Amino acid sequence: MCGIVGAVAQRDVSPVLLEGLKRLEYRGYDSAGLAVLNHDKQLQRIRVQGKVNELKQEHQASPLKGGTGIAHTRWATHGKPNLNNAHPHICRDTVALVHNGIIENHEQLRTEQIASGFEFTSETDTEVVVHAVYEALQSTPDLLQAVFTTIKQLKGAYALGVINNAEPDRLIAAREGSPLVIGVGIGEYFIASDVFALLPVTQRFIFLEDGDVADITRDKLTIYDSNQNIVERSISVSELNADVADKAGYRHYMLKEIFSQPNAIAESLVNRTNDGQVVSNEFGQDAESIFQQVKAVKIAACGTSYHAGLIAAHWLEEIAQVPCQVEIASEYRYRKSVIVDNTLFVSISQSGETADTLAALQLAKKSGFLSTLAICNVAESSLTREAELVFLTHAGPEIGVASTKAFTTQLVGLFLLVVAIAKHNGLSNEEEASFVKQLESLPGRVNQLLQFKDDIETMAKDFADKHHALFLGRGSFLPVAMEGALKLKEISYIHAEAYAAGELKHGPLALVDDDMPVVAVAPNNHLLEKLKSNLQEVQARGGKLYLFADKASEVESTEGVYVLKINAVCDFMAPILYTIPLQLLAYYVAVIKGADIDQPRNLAKSVTVE
Ligand code: F6R
Repeated sequence: MCGIVGAVAQRDVSPVLLEGLKRLEYRGYDSAGLAVLNHDKQLQRIRVQGKVNELKQEHQASPLKGGTGIAHTRWATHGKPNLNNAHPHICRDTVALVHNGIIENHEQLRTEQIASGFEFTSETDTEVVVHAVYEALQSTPDLLQAVFTTIKQLKGAYALGVINNAEPDRLIAAREGSPLVIGVGIGEYFIASDVFALLPVTQRFIFLEDGDVADITRDKLTIYDSNQNIVERSISVSELNADVADKAGYRHYMLKEIFSQPNAIAESLVNRTNDGQVVSNEFGQDAESIFQQVKAVKIAACGTSYHAGLIAAHWLEEIAQVPCQVEIASEYRYRKSVIVDNTLFVSISQSGETADTLAALQLAKKSGFLSTLAICNVAESSLTREAELVFLTHAGPEIGVASTKAFTTQLVGLFLLVVAIAKHNGLSNEEEASFVKQLESLPGRVNQLLQFKDDIETMAKDFADKHHALFLGRGSFLPVAMEGALKLKEISYIHAEAYAAGELKHGPLALVDDDMPVVAVAPNNHLLEKLKSNLQEVQARGGKLYLFADKASEVESTEGVYVLKINAVCDFMAPILYTIPLQLLAYYVAVIKGADIDQPRNLAKSVTVE
């Protein structure tokens, strides 16, 4: 989703801005631009409808020089992805502005501003903000005051970077509901949507809070809270290296991330278990006493993270015997729900910035839950700062838009949570030790599954010319099938749906023919025989089956049935493991189709608008 970079420095800031945009590409975008105040106090701007590399080329042809600038990658919400709608937006050659978020009252402001004589050059919701700042500057020469006046008029979510040609060494940043971080340099400051953008120039960051406005010059930073009081926000030192976004020889980030799962899982387990026991304090200091009281769990998340929640619900009810409800965050936040006493609210998010998940958590905090927990991959994200308890998945930055290692490490975090709760609900020490052992065996087992890559690449050839695919699973493997279908559709653009295998004959069977590949996850559990019957229903209709099955499940490859046999594994760990071949399948189908795997069309890595 939209990315912001800004800088106030003695050096020419364009290279920093362009590199920052490049590093934000993973968030997803369709146009890009930058504006720099040159040494004659003139605003210069370059925008492109397309990629940052094209912006770089245009910049190379006519470089923008100056020490103050802002830049942006736009993911279209209001108005098509075209040049006029690309940011920065400029009002009367005076004020330039970049924005991430959605201004909900833009129509009303636009009408008023048109009546006051402002001309609009874009269809965006953002343009009203730049005009509002310009208008406010007619009553005060001070950009900070003009921004204060402006944001009082705005409804919605925003992260803003604003510059003004009358004050060439000043940048004002503001945050409400959309992420914004300040990079602290030596005699220079930067702003960005996340720390990755700025890692080449600093390791020191200040995370703005909702309602904050930052007044930034080369050698001074003043932050105001929503009441316009000066506040101190602490500086965090990032441990990430600038080269964290390296593909390490892999063709795509997604492939690198799939293959880094053994390590990501191992990292996510470090210090989380000790001597066969789960260390509850890894969820927060009060976690142990909270877990003792848990009588129910409510999970809210989006997309892949939602699928992780669905799997965890099976574990919670079976292992911890605690009822669990899983909700799509965008639904939960707008519906009235009943909260059972002593319910723990769990939000799951790779980025920690997903607007709907964050709003669900904010709602939960006001709704009388026992406590709130965030399972997240990004320390210092909005979600982790909002939740009372936090479990960080140590998957490392995930750059490919399609979530892979974040998902499997979320499952590891969720399994640890289930065991930590189950301990207070009758789980014996021996059972706990056995689960810990299973968890510790995961990296090696994932590694074994990755060795199937050539088989799956071959299998993928059968899918590349298909328009639809069906994924089947039962029990905790239904969400695995859902995740496999989501991966396939988002990166290969093949329409894929997941069904509970038992639902097949209630409708979707009508779709099955030799043009519809059917993928099924078939671990050797109590539902295997039922699943086998469902698969026969597919075979009888000429459907081609692709089965990921346990070696012991006694299903063999035959005409129209391709079986990939997986080593026996404990049923609780199996959802984590069966996900791996499905990720590889989606990846190789997308490779054959020549799709833009790391940045699939229309999608964003960090969905900061609802
Ligand atoms: C799919 C995918 C998305 C995200 C969803 C939530 O591969 O990555 O479905 O899972 O947008 O994002 P987070 O986890 O950052 O809240």
